[in-house]
Amino acid sequence: MRPSLSVDIAPGRKNSLVLKNPVMPASGCFSWGQEFARHFDISALGAVVSKGVTMAPRQGNPQPRVAETPAGMLNSIGLQNIGIDACISDMAPIWTRWDVPVIVNVAGDTVEEFGEMARMLDGVPGIAAIELNISCPNVDMGGIEIGQDVGASARATRAAVRNTDLPVIVKITPNVTDPVSLARACEAEGAAAICAINTVLGLAIDVRRQRPVLPRARGGVSGPAIKPIALRIVYDIARAVNVPVIGCGGVGSGQDAVEFLMAGATAVQVGTATFANPRALLDVIEGLEAWMSANGVADVNDLIGASFRSA
Ligand code: FUM
Repeated sequence: MRPSLSVDIAPGRKNSLVLKNPVMPASGCFSWGQEFARHFDISALGAVVSKGVTMAPRQGNPQPRVAETPAGMLNSIGLQNIGIDACISDMAPIWTRWDVPVIVNVAGDTVEEFGEMARMLDGVPGIAAIELNISCPNVDMGGIEIGQDVGASARATRAAVRNTDLPVIVKITPNVTDPVSLARACEAEGAAAICAINTVLGLAIDVRRQRPVLPRARGGVSGPAIKPIALRIVYDIARAVNVPVIGCGGVGSGQDAVEFLMAGATAVQVGTATFANPRALLDVIEGLEAWMSANGVADVNDLIGASFRSA
């Protein structure tokens, strides 16, 4: 018999969110989904996660916006996106026709904007959940300015949760000393799940020009280079909160997914791997299922937190 891959990433909520499997793209690495829908059946995914959407459309940061790093990449996109009105009017109607839940990643400039955007998305057909992006390192307002502050993270979560019945997932930054206190504060304000982690602050130097490669100097490191950091933070948070944790950071194979689940994640996001391998999400799902079959695991939920349950 095939193993069961189904997980619930918002158990006990008014709108729970049961996924057919625990694998979804990381925000920003799947655009709005249509491009990938042309290449494979995206209903095979557990969920789709949109690019970060802001109140007004954004052009994003000046080029270059990416740089290669050892075992990863550095990005500073600057939340280029079409804005929330176009997301609702142009994208959501397309998502209603998909047999996969769509999670909209929202990036407010202020705590109040997180509340306002949650209100705008509430009840829109085609939208299954909201992911609060309080962790983008590449913008002047919002992003880690909010997400590095426990109080502001809590207020942004509260503002969103009180304005929507949709599950609110909070994507937190690794660029703090104590990510667990961020997660706890967001859980206390009603977050349905915590997504950990966004990118790790980094820098690349152009030796010919004798200056940073990226115009804003700093960017966010992603890919296999950050997997051990992400696993450590998922492990710490999963033992400290009672809501599901979605693991993100260097996931590119079924084995990676197993490691994140055993570290306490209920689901995983696949980001940078999709740039080199557009099928990466499917490879992760198939690899996870194959690992479970080979190891006699009938239900993926039995893997969640296995590393500390058995310690
Ligand atoms: O620059 C960016 O758009 C990155 C966003 C993020 O890391 O959330």
